[in-house]
Amino acid sequence: MPDSAVTASQENLGSAPDSRRALLKIGVGAMSTCYAAAVAYPVYRYLAAPAIRAREQGQITAVSIASKDLPGPNSATMFLFGSRPAVLIHHADGRYNAFDAVCSHLGCTVRFEPQNQRIYCPCHGGTYDMNTGEVIAGPPPRPLKPYRVEVTDGNVVISRT
Ligand code: FES
Repeated sequence: MPDSAVTASQENLGSAPDSRRALLKIGVGAMSTCYAAAVAYPVYRYLAAPAIRAREQGQITAVSIASKDLPGPNSATMFLFGSRPAVLIHHADGRYNAFDAVCSHLGCTVRFEPQNQRIYCPCHGGTYDMNTGEVIAGPPPRPLKPYRVEVTDGNVVISRT
């Protein structure tokens, strides 16, 4: 048998496992990349969520609600100002006030209580003035952030102060 024939035969035997090994490496690498992406993306979304929400929040400058969609006096409507809950209070005398509805204590959503004429946080009993958003009682350290409210052409427009 010529030397070249032996060498070619040995190369064929040696290259088949090498190519399978290389293919296996590529497959494992691709699967590892997919797995890493599947794990990393939700982590990225979780970590980036506050920044995304802050950016979205900054882009919203006003919210308009049709007056016909609002309940009558001495009631309130919850709505979203960007991604933040907010409350629009329709007072008994016809005035409107709107506030950020995130309690300044630990972030629960507050609600208007018409029977008690106050804004109340059910988590720890924080109580806010329904006209100013100032803290009346309980643990909240700061008042609720007010919004500007204008009634125009059948709409109530709530915007940043
Ligand atoms: S979260 Fe509102 S009083 Fe604690």
